[in-house]
Amino acid sequence: MTNNIFSKDILQGKVAFVTGGGTGITGGVARAFAEHGAKLAITSRKIENLEAMKAQVEGHGGKCLAVAADVRDFEAVQNAIAKTVEHYGKIDIVVNGAAGNFLCAANELSPNGFGTVVDIDTKGTFNVCRAAFEALQQSKGQILNISATLHYLATPMQIHVSAAKAGVDAITRNLSVEWGPHGVRVNGIAPGPIEDTEGMKRLLPEPLKDKITKRIPLGRFGKIADIENAALFLASDAAGYINGVTLVVDGGQWLKGTSFG
Ligand code: COA
Repeated sequence: MTNNIFSKDILQGKVAFVTGGGTGITGGVARAFAEHGAKLAITSRKIENLEAMKAQVEGHGGKCLAVAADVRDFEAVQNAIAKTVEHYGKIDIVVNGAAGNFLCAANELSPNGFGTVVDIDTKGTFNVCRAAFEALQQSKGQILNISATLHYLATPMQIHVSAAKAGVDAITRNLSVEWGPHGVRVNGIAPGPIEDTEGMKRLLPEPLKDKITKRIPLGRFGKIADIENAALFLASDAAGYINGVTLVVDGGQWLKGTSFG
């Protein structure tokens, strides 16, 4: 349950389509949106990744449609968007959170490994935005793209994700300019290290955690709730004039150049 300053009805009547919405950071954003009145459609490659979130949201009286779709597959994405519009009649908010990540040195990474992450993160984000455009144009809706800060400097073992997330930020800026005139706002969130996520457990060796914590200006790792709060703000009418921004939520980490390497 999110504990925040937002009124519980700020997203009342809105429909949110969230990729990667079953688990991790984007799972938290999906749940927070539901807690604040939104009806959800969540997607993941595997339907079993969505079941717990669907049960949790519905257990609290919310609405949640779970649709399996690989964001790399444009046809599958189009089907998921069509199902959502058929089910709820519209889409107001799209959150692109589906992502792939693993640590690998550039000189050991295969071209297919590089391309796989770019396909999931960057092409997947484009696919979903593209497929949702008509629905968003009709609802005067908005997009939130989840990226990272890895590419602001250089992050060893993360060349694939850095390139992919730089592409996501480019999509955010481009679409904000191209689709703003259609009434669609496009923004992003760049989380820093967020604890209690599968990605962080897998990517960050425990001994490094203390070292990195000491170098984060705010002296702690982020919480999923920190990202939820940023997403609630950007998705709300309070952010109605914010377009083309990627909001960094990292306690000031990247400015100190603290990489995982
Ligand atoms: N190190 C190096 N290369 C890796 C790798 C790793 N840990 N994991 C995958 N790859 C490479 C594979 O070797 C393959 O390249 P190749 O054909 O040249 O050998 C390529 O990436 C595709 O791998 P594959 O497992 O077939 O792709 P997939 O589409 O099934 O899954 C990921 C890709 C990124 C989703 C997968 O690595 C994964 O499941 N990661 C964990 C889940 C995750 O990333 N969650 C997001 C948390 S932030």
